[in-house]
Amino acid sequence: MKRIFSGMQPTGNLHLGNYLGALKNWVKLQDDYECYYCVVDLHALTLPQDPATLRKAIREVACAYIAAGIDTNKSTLCVQSCMPAHTELSWLLSTLTPLGWMNRMTQFKDKAGKNRDLQLLGLYSYPILMAADILIYQASHVPVGEDQKQHLELTRDVAIAFNNRYGAYFTIPEPLIMGEAARIMSLRDGAKKMSKSDTSDYSRINLTDDADTIMLKIRKAKTDPEPLPDTLEDLAKRPEAQNLVSIYAAMADRPLEGVLREHAGETFSTFKKDLADLTIAKLVPITNRMRELMADPAEIDAILAKGAEKANALTQKHLKEIKERVGLWV
Ligand code: TRP
Repeated sequence: MKRIFSGMQPTGNLHLGNYLGALKNWVKLQDDYECYYCVVDLHALTLPQDPATLRKAIREVACAYIAAGIDTNKSTLCVQSCMPAHTELSWLLSTLTPLGWMNRMTQFKDKAGKNRDLQLLGLYSYPILMAADILIYQASHVPVGEDQKQHLELTRDVAIAFNNRYGAYFTIPEPLIMGEAARIMSLRDGAKKMSKSDTSDYSRINLTDDADTIMLKIRKAKTDPEPLPDTLEDLAKRPEAQNLVSIYAAMADRPLEGVLREHAGETFSTFKKDLADLTIAKLVPITNRMRELMADPAEIDAILAKGAEKANALTQKHLKEIKERVGLWV
């Protein structure tokens, strides 16, 4: 069976972009793949984290996976730092990765800005840990957003380097790039991605927002004074309008074109009312479930312990085979 691995960092508030851009798709993949969905806590350490906040955020992300519809009878839900094979493989892969490959990573360049010398090694080497996450499972498919595509290409290159050196072992993973429609932008600026780290809470809908807050944030979302256009071409020229229509389409699981045909000519105040109703109808059951799960940490902790057991069984088996190939003492 085809195997999926994907992960999300436990940093800050989960929001509508995480749901529509990742979780909703992960849920759909469960029937056709053997899925491992991981809370990648080690990755979160590439930025300074407060220990108590981090621990709570790990649980919160795990709760969001389940509330969004990840079924732990079908898929394995685990926390990265519970499986030591991830970091062990990461070291082995780093011995096969030329610096030139790392220096090409655009995400590091963007995050580092001009102050390269002050950046931490972990932020620089993080794509190798991500490669290890994927390869240690022998995952065949990895659902990721557009922004992670380059890291997945690096993963494939490193896997090929290993296979050339030690004989064919790793499955070369394919990206499953999540659709354009699921690129959710800030509610305050149609040119910026909806983000956990945006200082304005009005820029995003959090997975913990209640119905009134969702209504208010959508009502206040930035738009222009024109009514909804009737062609995709005209819509594309108006980033904020495009974002709201895209959110509607993703929420309703319908193509953008159909949504536009139905609502063309409406004012945004009318459309926003519809969008808020739809968003509340879909999201509130999830946020309620999430609050229930958060209130019972023992249940979620037991699910994570079971997931770690299963993930450790698989990753330790692979790690042993890898070490044998490399000539390490096993
Ligand atoms: N780097 C990813 C992100 O920031 C998270 C991640 C870490 C990941 N390891 C992964 C995603 C493995 C997919 C597969 O979004």
